[in-house]
Amino acid sequence: MSDLYSQPVFLLGFGGVGRALARQILAARARHAQRNRLRLVIVGVADSASSVMAPSGLPDAAILDLLERKGRGERLADDPQPPALDSLPAHTIVVDTTATVATVPWLMEAKARGMGVVLANKLPLAGDLRWWDAIADARARWETTCGAALPVISTLNTLLDSGDDILRIEGSLSGTLGFLSSQLEAGVPFGQAVRDAKAKGYTEPDPRQDLSGLDAARKALILARMLGYRLEMRDVAVESLYPPEMDALSVDEFLREADALDAPMKQRAAELTVGGRKLRYAAEIADGKLRVGLVGAAPESKLGGIRSSDSIVVFHTRYFSDNPLAVSGRGAGQEVTASGVLGDIVSLSRAMRR
Ligand SMILES: NC(=O)c1ccc[n+]([C@@H]2O[C@H](COP(=O)([O-])OP(=O)(O)OC[C@H]3O[C@@H](n4cnc5c(N)ncnc54)[C@H](OP(=O)(O)O)[C@@H]3O)[C@@H](O)[C@H]2O)c1
Repeated sequence: MSDLYSQPVFLLGFGGVGRALARQILAARARHAQRNRLRLVIVGVADSASSVMAPSGLPDAAILDLLERKGRGERLADDPQPPALDSLPAHTIVVDTTATVATVPWLMEAKARGMGVVLANKLPLAGDLRWWDAIADARARWETTCGAALPVISTLNTLLDSGDDILRIEGSLSGTLGFLSSQLEAGVPFGQAVRDAKAKGYTEPDPRQDLSGLDAARKALILARMLGYRLEMRDVAVESLYPPEMDALSVDEFLREADALDAPMKQRAAELTVGGRKLRYAAEIADGKLRVGLVGAAPESKLGGIRSSDSIVVFHTRYFSDNPLAVSGRGAGQEVTASGVLGDIVSLSRAMRR
């Protein structure tokens, strides 16, 4: 086994996705050795309060211990130390599975030190364009920031490399809003549909985080930036499914008062579904612009044909014109997301070795 390449990996974030990733790294040891001559060595783990640094690598037993600690709701370490990247090997891959922009300085430092970066966290890539410019290069991977492990980013990269011209991208990128759209289409009143989605665990604890459309907009902004559109979030037309004055309400108040939106949402759904069109919450990227909101999709189209809670990205290109190229399937879930992150780590390790 001594001819295995040791790839140092630093885990920034140890929540649902981060912990699933750690378990998957351990479970994939034999496959990585056999298929890739690779051993992923976890050289540090950080959560919001502390970090455990081990530049020569944490033994698997220590990783299992950290998983157990976090599973019991304990902190990673008693000492609230921030991560110290200067203690790590120069070819480390820093993996961001947090959901905060607080990691941006570490990502910048990692890039400046020549390290690789893998993100499941979309906030750094959908934030300030200067962050995008500093992070999103050949020493970074971010497949799971748009549609979890669906190969959306890699497909787009392949199209961009192939000489094809991407004319338009449309996508349904929120399982929550997909579910909600299908409920509205079926005639379920808006307030009831929101409460049902929350009861089924489809929404964030505060459903307004989904209903604002911002999460879907961030995913689409990452695709738009890959096309070379120099857009900031303020340039994106995002349709929120509730008015801004409802931001002041508590979650319970919002859930009660959402019924006030039943009539306007019913009318909007009726307008968009004339002639049997399907109600979707979709992003459209074309002509330098990005718009995210409710649309009526033709029932025979790829966007109109997906299962409501699935994600889809449809690439309309010069070569894929009459029958556009679509990537669709389950676009959320911690285990599947972790698997996409793991794929990114292996792919980036291979590229960095070259
Ligand atoms: N779940 C999905 O289906 C899915 C799909 C695609 C992408 N993603 C993305 O994957 C990311 C992780 O999702 P998740 O479900 O694993 O979230 P989560 O369970 O809330 O985990 C977030 C982790 O980040 C840590 N953290 C927060 N602030 C930090 C900081 N300043 N420094 C270091 N660590 C920090 C948290 O620490 P504590 O443990 O101390 O709280 C926690 O361990 C998110 O960006 C999400 O959008 C998720």
